[in-house]
Amino acid sequence: MNRLKILSISSTIGVYMLIVLGGITTQSGSGMACPDWPLCFGELLPNLTTTVLIEMSHRYLAMIVGFLILGTFIVSYRSYRSEKSLLTSSGIALVLVTMQAYIGMLTVTSILDPAIVTIHLAVSTALFGFSVVTALLSLRT
Ligand code: HEM
Repeated sequence: MNRLKILSISSTIGVYMLIVLGGITTQSGSGMACPDWPLCFGELLPNLTTTVLIEMSHRYLAMIVGFLILGTFIVSYRSYRSEKSLLTSSGIALVLVTMQAYIGMLTVTSILDPAIVTIHLAVSTALFGFSVVTALLSLRT
C-alpha cells in the first residue's frame, strides 16, 4: 500500500460515510440543529443534544474528508504527474469537495432551501463518483 492508495481509498470511504451521515442529518430533522456556520451556537463543541451531535459529526467528518482529498491531489501532483487521468480525477474531486463545503454552508444560512439541499445531494453523488475513480486509478500505481 503506497501513500496514494491509502489516501484515495480513505477519501472514498469517508465520502460514503458522509453521504450516509448527511441522509441521517436530513431524515432525523437535524439540519437546523446548529443554526450558524462554521461554529454551532458560536462554539466548537456546544451542548451535545442528539441532533447537534449528528449535525456536528457531519461537519467535522466533512473537514477530515476535505483534507484527505487535498492530500490525495497533492500526492498525485507530486509523485504521479504523468498519470493524467489520475491527476484529473483527483483535481476534480478537490474542486467538488471545496464547492460542497461552500454549498454546505449555504444549506444552513438559507435555512434548508430545498433547491440548495438538492444541489448539495447532487454534488455529493458526483464527488463520490470521482473519489471511486481516483481510488481505482490509484490501484494501478
Ligand atoms: C464532502 C462534504 C459533504 C458531503 C458529501 C455531504 C453530503 C450530504 C448529504 C448526502 C446530505 C443529505 C441530503 C439529502 O438528504 O437531500 C447532506 C445533508 C446536509 N448537509 Fe452535507 N455534505 C457535506 C458537507 C457539508 C458541510 C461542510 C456542511 C456545513 C454545514 C453540510 C451541511 C448539511 C446539512 C445542514 C444537511 C441537512 C439538510 C437537510 O436537513 O435537509 N454538509 N449532506
